[in-house]
Amino acid sequence: MALKNTEETYGQMSKSLHWIVMVLVLVLLLVGSLMGDIPFKPVKHLVYTLHKLTGLTVMFLMIFFVIWSAFNPKPSYPEKMKAWELWLAKTVRISLYVVIIAMPLVGWFFSTAAGYPPSLFGVAAFPAPFVPVSKSLAGIGHELHEIIAWIIVCLTVVHAAGAFTHRVIYRDNVLQRMMGLSD
Ligand code: HEM
Ligand code: HEM
Repeated sequence: MALKNTEETYGQMSKSLHWIVMVLVLVLLLVGSLMGDIPFKPVKHLVYTLHKLTGLTVMFLMIFFVIWSAFNPKPSYPEKMKAWELWLAKTVRISLYVVIIAMPLVGWFFSTAAGYPPSLFGVAAFPAPFVPVSKSLAGIGHELHEIIAWIIVCLTVVHAAGAFTHRVIYRDNVLQRMMGLSD
């Protein structure tokens, strides 16, 4: 199977990046919302550390996904799609790129500002560059992290609804070509 996209379908790299990022983001959303309530301190600390490191991994994967997509053809949509559907699909897609990079960036900034930058189990710490330790900055960042989480949820619902509309109502191959089922 080809690594690069063609005019007809996504290549292996786009498919892998897409589904790996999707799973990681959904897990991070769920774990992020629940981890504050973990009662046992060492487990809580471990989960926070894993949340931060996985979040940073998502950031780098998504930056690579943007670059990869920019240098690859975009499979064209079925001709019957209306102008507003094309506009919505594109707007949601670009917004997803932006928020999935902004989310870990904000997380990285506010945990650094709070004095708890991501650390590799005490071996090495990775503070965000140029971010001072500041309680008020950390508070704003935390709020923003929560707001962006809801934006991601809304965008993903619209995006997935679009994908299922193609599958169930239009009965075209837009979902399958992202799943590796339409070569
Ligand atoms: C795509 C990546 C990420 C997603 C989807 C995500 C998602 C979330 C969510 C949903 C919460 C709960 C928000 C709340 O209700 O307070 C949360 C909390 C948190 N996130 Fe993330 N996060 C991501 C990346 C990061 C990164 C990279 C860091 C730090 C380097 C980070 C640090 C934190 C911290 C410290 C909290 C806990 C705040 C608290 O409990 O006081 N996150 N995250
Ligand atoms: C957090 C979750 C998700 C993120 C961040 C995400 C992100 C993206 C991005 C950035 C693209 C564009 C790829 C490109 O420019 O080449 C894309 C395409 C696509 N996604 Fe997602 N996605 C997510 C969840 C889902 C889900 C749940 C589904 C379906 C069940 C889905 C189905 C698709 C399909 C079918 C395409 C190709 C559409 C097209 O050809 O334009 N995605 N996604």
